[in-house]
Amino acid sequence: METGTQHPGHEQIRAQPEEERYIAPASPIALKRKIKITAVEAITKSKSTESAEFVLHVPSEYDYRYTAEHREEIIQKIKEAYKQACGKSMPIYGVPHHYLKDFVTTKSDRKKNLFKVPEELFRMKEEESPAEPDPMKALLDEVPNFQKTKGTSLYQKNKTEKSVMLDEFKILKVLGRGSFGRVYLAEMISNGRLYAIKELRKDVLIDTDQIQNTRIEKEIMKNANHPFLVNLDYVFQTIGRIYFVMKFMRGGELYTLITKEKRFAEPRARFYAAQIVLALGHLHRNKIIYRDVKPENILMDDDGYLCLTDFGLARFLEEDKKAMSFCGTPEYMAPEIITGEGHNRAADWWSLGVLIYEMLVGVPPFYHQNQNTMYQYITSRSVIFPDPVKHKITVSDLAKDLITKVWAHISPLVAAGEVTEGSAGSRAGGRRGHPQAPLLLHS
Ligand SMILES: Nc1ncnc2c1ncn2[C@@H]1O[C@H](COP(=O)(O)OP(=O)(O)O)[C@@H](O)[C@H]1O
Ligand SMILES: [Mg+2]
Repeated sequence: METGTQHPGHEQIRAQPEEERYIAPASPIALKRKIKITAVEAITKSKSTESAEFVLHVPSEYDYRYTAEHREEIIQKIKEAYKQACGKSMPIYGVPHHYLKDFVTTKSDRKKNLFKVPEELFRMKEEESPAEPDPMKALLDEVPNFQKTKGTSLYQKNKTEKSVMLDEFKILKVLGRGSFGRVYLAEMISNGRLYAIKELRKDVLIDTDQIQNTRIEKEIMKNANHPFLVNLDYVFQTIGRIYFVMKFMRGGELYTLITKEKRFAEPRARFYAAQIVLALGHLHRNKIIYRDVKPENILMDDDGYLCLTDFGLARFLEEDKKAMSFCGTPEYMAPEIITGEGHNRAADWWSLGVLIYEMLVGVPPFYHQNQNTMYQYITSRSVIFPDPVKHKITVSDLAKDLITKVWAHISPLVAAGEVTEGSAGSRAGGRRGHPQAPLLLHS
């Protein structure tokens, strides 16, 4: 599966499903399943000194229970890998029980939406953050020094300019964390111009089978000649990495802005939406579907205009063809991507509808902490707008009409009225840990 927001999880751990639960540590043949480290949500261990049991909680699958002589060493390794991949501490629960059967969510529990993670009072905070170094500082410590890096040029937009090499850039700071490496703010030493440099680790691209997608991303960005699309100025490579050098968007992500301001007044949302419409229209005219419209991928310049960036999921598609891959970011995914019936550029308009709703209301229209339930909402529920009196949010009839129309022609269920009246969910504690208070729109 291609995925838009999640870390690709190149760190993997091996384990066994609950049905075959006890692995003898000395029997490596028994280890045959791979779980992405990012899929592990927490670990529960027995506090009993007699017990060597622990459970890996994997909400996207089901849980895994183990007994292992070297339990603490194994947990330590998992914690380190998780920290590296997710940039935060793995939650650890310590329970007095000798056997941990009651804390294992099985396949059938999952079907019933039962999750058996211990209660919060069992959380072992001291295990999770023993005076760890500042993650940002650790990131900066690892920042490559381009002056000492031997790189080769793969692309230069302005062919009349004298050729530019990687060592002509100096990294100033880390701007963001991408799926395959970091994004840096860098200065071109000769003229002081600022650029954003996206780093892609080749080992991770290979592990996650993303070589072809990266080629497409580069091709699309090279040709993204439009005021509302971020395009490429240079591409370099070293033995282990590829670097995309692009315009630095000083205003940061639209996501940060929505989070800070909770929601936008309609004229402002309209102004932003119009720019994304033009950006998507340009891509579609060039037979490109984008597939990852979301506020994290929309960056703002210092003049207040927006640019769409991150073409990692984009691809070329003829007008009469359909794409089949399951990809995107759950909250913004069109129903036809979820159902796997094949999608085309209409899927981008669906995501734009979600984005417009989010800009006006403050939360996306379909949300649930459980991803599968969220998919169910997207494929079967109609959208609910907030009540102006109760929620104190007014969405004009024109905006409602626009949002429902971009969806109506896409989802046959919605169009046919075969939908259950649903509610927009809150995003409290969700994927991105939205700090704002949950907005419950049950009518
Ligand atoms: N041109 C840019 N200017 C400023 N920040 C950027 C730029 N490009 C990316 N970023 C930051 O880096 C983050 C990750 O970049 P992105 O291209 O979306 O990577 P990924 O494909 O891994 O999601 C963005 O969400 C944004 O915060
Ligand atoms: Mg992105």
